[in-house]
Amino acid sequence: KTLAELGDLRGKRVLVRSDLNVPLDGQTITDDGRIRASLPTITQLTQAGARVVVCAHLGRPKGAPDPQFSLAPVAARLGELLGTDVAFADDTVGESARSTVEALQDGQVALLENLRFNPGETSKDEAERGAFADQLAQLADAYVSDGFGVVHRAQASVYDIATRLPAAMGGLVQTEVDVLQRLTSDPERPYAVVLGGAKVSDKLGVIDNLLGTADRLLIGGGMVFTFLKAQGHEVGKSLLEEDQLATVTEYLERAERDGVEIILPTDVVAATEFSADAEHEVVAADAIPADRMGLDIGPDSAKHFADKLADCRTVFWNGPMGAFEMAPYASGTETVARALVEATKGGALTVVGGGDSAAAVRQLGFADSDFGHISTGGGASLEYLEGKELPGLSVFDGEEG
Ligand code: 3PG
Repeated sequence: KTLAELGDLRGKRVLVRSDLNVPLDGQTITDDGRIRASLPTITQLTQAGARVVVCAHLGRPKGAPDPQFSLAPVAARLGELLGTDVAFADDTVGESARSTVEALQDGQVALLENLRFNPGETSKDEAERGAFADQLAQLADAYVSDGFGVVHRAQASVYDIATRLPAAMGGLVQTEVDVLQRLTSDPERPYAVVLGGAKVSDKLGVIDNLLGTADRLLIGGGMVFTFLKAQGHEVGKSLLEEDQLATVTEYLERAERDGVEIILPTDVVAATEFSADAEHEVVAADAIPADRMGLDIGPDSAKHFADKLADCRTVFWNGPMGAFEMAPYASGTETVARALVEATKGGALTVVGGGDSAAAVRQLGFADSDFGHISTGGGASLEYLEGKELPGLSVFDGEEG
């Protein structure tokens, strides 16, 4: 259901669930990509004369107010980007929220405090979640789901609320789903997926599914050392998930049998410790010294990865190739990003998925427009590619509101 189907919204209170879970350094927002991505839907609603009540989470507080997870800095940034005042309620469904919403005029915007300050938001108990969704529903006449990054969460503001109010998907969720659909149903080939990030255990489901759809899997980041170990190499002090070795071995065998190319680094940047100042050198991936840890893919591997992406028509990338936030270990991620930019120029569909990867490409100086699409969803885009049912999307199939 689209916004247009909600009818005339002038004077109506519209609750918008956005994903404003941005990285913070103290009170400073270090990447405002998710806030920017939420603007079109909010603006569409204000222009329609709605009274817009934005709700969102930040981090993972434990169901109670915790100042370090306050959305106050996000309200300020949202106001700057919208070019208008954003009223900030310092609770979610309490007196402050009620009076803030009541004071809204047509076309004005408010942001509620972090939804996860309430235990009902993330509760596994349906009744507790439902009770919180009921309180949220009292603040609005209609609901718009625009937080793609949370559609994989069966949470009160994502799932339960959509059954309690007239509800629609916002443009951001629709765009994200349209793009990811192009990756899952008949992607243009060759189709390559680049996976990185720290933990292979976060990516098992998606690798399992991609072995049936992708032509090439390029693997870097901390997770690659479990692959190298599964191939019989020593990985020194690098990240290793011993308990995943059997699964990874099975993936390598399956890939070989089914003709899916798995491309692993042949060299790595190995450091004495996890620090920008640590002594580091490039070593062969099968000769990592016992006292070193791999913190980036090496230059030969980065070049090989770029070559493997050059002729691709579809590329999905999730997870940095190394500890890119420290300059000595950023070049693998940078080379892969550049390869995606080149592929984009050549007409390939390139999708960067995930908060970390999106932050990485921006931190390295790339623009969003250098890529086909930068997804606002990390876990959500992976679960979509995994073929899982996402509660925040499926609720619209059987919507009652
Ligand atoms: C994300 O950062 O991927 C989303 O905002 C979801 O956050 P969560 O993993 O804490 O639910």
